[in-house]
Amino acid sequence: MSKVMKDGPKGPSARGGEHHWLQRWQAVRQPWWFDPYFAPLIAEALPHLAPCLESGGDLLHVGSGIGDKTDALRELGARAVGLELSPDLVARARDTYPTTRFVEGNALAMPFEDGTFDAVFSFSVMQCLDWRQMLTEVRRVLRPGGRAVFIENLAGSPFAQAYRLGKRLLRSPYRTHQRPLRHLAWEECPELLQVFPTVEYRAFHLFTPALLAPPVLARVFGGGEQIAVGGGPSFTSLTRLDTELLRRFPSLSDRAWKVVVRVTSSSTGRPEQDVVLGRRTSL
Ligand SMILES: C[S@@+](CC[C@H](N)C(=O)[O-])C[C@H]1O[C@@H](n2cnc3c(N)ncnc32)[C@H](O)[C@@H]1O
Repeated sequence: MSKVMKDGPKGPSARGGEHHWLQRWQAVRQPWWFDPYFAPLIAEALPHLAPCLESGGDLLHVGSGIGDKTDALRELGARAVGLELSPDLVARARDTYPTTRFVEGNALAMPFEDGTFDAVFSFSVMQCLDWRQMLTEVRRVLRPGGRAVFIENLAGSPFAQAYRLGKRLLRSPYRTHQRPLRHLAWEECPELLQVFPTVEYRAFHLFTPALLAPPVLARVFGGGEQIAVGGGPSFTSLTRLDTELLRRFPSLSDRAWKVVVRVTSSSTGRPEQDVVLGRRTSL
């Protein structure tokens, strides 16, 4: 299910070209265990960032972690910068990708001037912090008409909820840099309109996460090393089922695992309204 919400003029849309961008992404990335799950998310995200990638624009990757996605975005054409809170991860990313720029800093008070970037990308970061504050920072550092994509884990997926409960019961801590504070709820997505004039969001993966259960259980109880899920026939069939169900029954979106949110900032560079999310202030 895809929702397009507008509260003002919309910039040029870069829909389409999903296949082209996915192929390019896969060409620059090493395949790894999550890839079948990432593919539709990346295919949704990259066309929105295409104007920045194609023009060699400035792109900020917020919460860049080990740096692999920042480096991929640089290889796709952007002048990419990774922003990361953890000094250890920044050091590791610089070591692994010496030609990509990584900056140590806080997404809630970004160490960049207003209007520094043409695009912003973040993956599983809103769940780690006060995302309302992060969004106002994203808006500040974007140039007029700039674009951003946020890929997040939703709160309501029964599979993800079972996984999170299992981790709690087994007292299995997250790695420090992956520890979630609170997951985004599908119903909260329209709140982004308080910061950006155009917001599009789409849910992914309803039943496909079921395929992760056996390898996760094998790792927990059998000491298996890697959660490996190929993109085989079961995955393809379940993906088709998910897409059809989400199209026909949009209300199921709040049970999906992932959401891709695509936003465009104001073309005037001025905030649409003087708003602190959740607390509307008058102008
Ligand atoms: C779940 S991890 C995702 C990492 C990376 N985006 C990826 O997909 O591989 C969340 C990342 O956000 C970083 N992070 C959390 N809070 C942050 C903050 N306030 N400012 C900058 N980075 C932050 C974490 O250190 C971690 O690297």
